[in-house]
Amino acid sequence: MKVSELSFEKYRNLKDSSIAPSDKVNVIYGENANGKTNLLEAIWLFCGGHSFRGSKENEMIRFGESFFKLGMKFFSQEREQEAEIIFDKGRKLIRINGVDKSSSSYLTEVFSAVVFSPEHLSLIKRGPNIRRRFLDAAICQQRIRYASILSKYNQIINQRNALLKDIYKHSELKDTLSIWDDSLTVVGARILKERFEYLKMLREPALKYHRGISCDKEELEICCICSCGADENDDEGTLRDKLSEALKRSRREDYHTGNTSVGPHRDDLDFKINGISARRFGSQGQQRSAVLSLKLSEAELLYKKNEERPVILLDDVLSELDNSRQDFLLNRVEDYQVFVTCCEESNKEQLKRGKVFYIENGVVGE
Ligand SMILES: Nc1ncnc2c1ncn2[C@@H]1O[C@H](COP(=O)(O)OP(=O)(O)O)[C@@H](O)[C@H]1O
Ligand SMILES: [Mg+2]
Repeated sequence: MKVSELSFEKYRNLKDSSIAPSDKVNVIYGENANGKTNLLEAIWLFCGGHSFRGSKENEMIRFGESFFKLGMKFFSQEREQEAEIIFDKGRKLIRINGVDKSSSSYLTEVFSAVVFSPEHLSLIKRGPNIRRRFLDAAICQQRIRYASILSKYNQIINQRNALLKDIYKHSELKDTLSIWDDSLTVVGARILKERFEYLKMLREPALKYHRGISCDKEELEICCICSCGADENDDEGTLRDKLSEALKRSRREDYHTGNTSVGPHRDDLDFKINGISARRFGSQGQQRSAVLSLKLSEAELLYKKNEERPVILLDDVLSELDNSRQDFLLNRVEDYQVFVTCCEESNKEQLKRGKVFYIENGVVGE
């Protein structure tokens, strides 16, 4: 997948114009608050989702204007294609190859990208729910059915928790808890199985990219910490048994707290660099490298599934990385089209193959 032209009209602070990116690495260079992230965000919108900064569409309309329009020409599915996103009077219009579409989700069929922004560092630094969300979102991209399994599981947890709270007042309801435990074990074991399978696929590219970024100095390991004591090599029957046992063991605590304390919704991932927890002991640069390796691996798994390489968008990743790590990102992520923003003059000089775009006050130039 390669973007060959991107045009913007009345979009944030970017002056109306179009750019023709290189199909290798594109460095977007400029000082703070000049529009670099705005440009990456514009490309990202063509993936059919929302802004990676959590902005609403009406915030993307240039101040004082009433609509914005983005256009993109790209090579995908072995042909040139084009898409437009127009946001006007609170409505989003999507046009793909000249045909109006009823929903942005049609964009996901033709264009895909993987984005890294500094907020993604929370994947290592912050709580387990962010790591579970990363894993679940990545699996959803691979298997559409996973989203419905996940939503069924969340429903069961909500209903079980509601019942636990009722039991506190009406102890005669205790007998009905096993109904929810039975469904929880079946659906929960399915989730564990899907997560383990994805982790098995993710490990090899993650190790490869992390070795590349760190010049073979670091090994990245990803481990799953399961609240029910499950092991990645367990079959689905064993997973059900382990979940069921764990639920029985935690009943007393669950009655007391009114919450379900074991199951996939309480599991976590641990990232280790050379055997040591990246979260607790990793340097800023190591944590950044680990998240980048995970993002690049996500791209690789998407490529394996769709036989199409997503575009890679890297926002503000180069700071805090040493020269050799920067060199890896600028010159050795081969075969992918990459867009990387930076504000250090030295970074654009490091680039061997690709284009440098300068942004000043929303004006993009080569
Ligand atoms: N809807 C908008 N209309 C006009 N300017 C905007 C809009 N949204 C953000 N901006 C401006 O864009 C600038 C930030 O751009 P950004 O791409 O985040 O900068 P950076 O180059 O640091 O990545 C800010 O100066 C902000 O005021
Ligand atoms: Mg920025």
